[in-house]
Amino acid sequence: MIIDNNRYFKIMKYFKFLQRVVILAVTLLLSVSSFAQFDGPPPGGRPPMGQGGPGGARFKQMMSRTVLENIANRKSVRNFVATDPVTKDTLEMLVKAGMAAPTAMNKQPWHFFATNDAKIIEAAAAKLGRGGNMIAEAGAVIIILGEPTVSEMFWAIDCSCAAENILLAIEALGLGGVWLSAYPNEQRMNDINEAFGIPAEYKVLCMIPVGHPTGKDKPKDKWNKKKFHFNKW
Ligand SMILES: Cc1cc2nc3c(=O)[nH]c(=O)nc-3n(C[C@H](O)[C@H](O)[C@H](O)COP(=O)(O)O)c2cc1C
Repeated sequence: MIIDNNRYFKIMKYFKFLQRVVILAVTLLLSVSSFAQFDGPPPGGRPPMGQGGPGGARFKQMMSRTVLENIANRKSVRNFVATDPVTKDTLEMLVKAGMAAPTAMNKQPWHFFATNDAKIIEAAAAKLGRGGNMIAEAGAVIIILGEPTVSEMFWAIDCSCAAENILLAIEALGLGGVWLSAYPNEQRMNDINEAFGIPAEYKVLCMIPVGHPTGKDKPKDKWNKKKFHFNKW
C-alpha cells in the first residue's frame, strides 16, 4: 500500500494524540491508586503516631517526612510583612499545637494568651521596649504562661515543649515567629504580665510574635557530628 506524504503526517498526528491520551490516563490511574493507598486519618482525627494507630503505613511515612521537613525549615523569624492579619482561628490552631506537647505527669501546667488586636499590641509594645517592636510588626502574639501551683518543678520545661510545638506549627502554616525570652528574668516576666494585664501568678515563659515572614530569615544548619556520640562516648 502506498501512503502519500499528507496521509502519512495525518496518521502520525493521530498516533501522537493517542499516545498523549494513553500517558494521561496512566498518570491519572497511578495517582488515584497511590491516593487510595493513603488510607488517611480516621474520622476522629490524626492517628496516634507510633502507637500502632489506625493510620496505615503510608500515612505514617508521609507524616514523618512532613514533620522532618518542617523541623529542618524552622527558623527564628524577626522580619515581618503586614499582609493578611493572623486570624483568631490561626492563633487557636497554634495554641492547639502547643497543648499537644508532652508534660511531666501530664499536668499541663500552662496557659496561653493570644491577641491580634492592634490596640492591645501597640499599647503593650510601647511599655515593653525591646521585643515590643517585633510584636507590633508581626501583628499577633502568643504568650506562653506557666502555672507553678500546678507543677512547680516542671512548668518551665513543659511550657518549653509547647513553645517548640507552636514554633513548628507556625512554620508549617508558612508563617513566622521567634521565641522572645522572659523566664527566668523576673523583671521581664512581670513587665509582660503588666503590659498585657495578666495576673502575676501566671509566669511568662516567653512571647512568640506571629506574622508573615519577609523571607529574610533563613534556617541554620546546626548539625555537628562531633556532638553525636554513638555507642561509645
Ligand atoms: C530560651 C530561648 C530564648 C530566646 N530568646 C530570644 C530573645 O529574647 N530574642 C530573640 O530575638 N531571639 C531569642 N531566641 C531565639 C534564638 O536566638 C534562636 O533560636 C537562635 O539564634 C537559633 O536560631 P534559629 O531559631 O533560627 O534556629 C531565644 C531562643 C530560646 C530557645
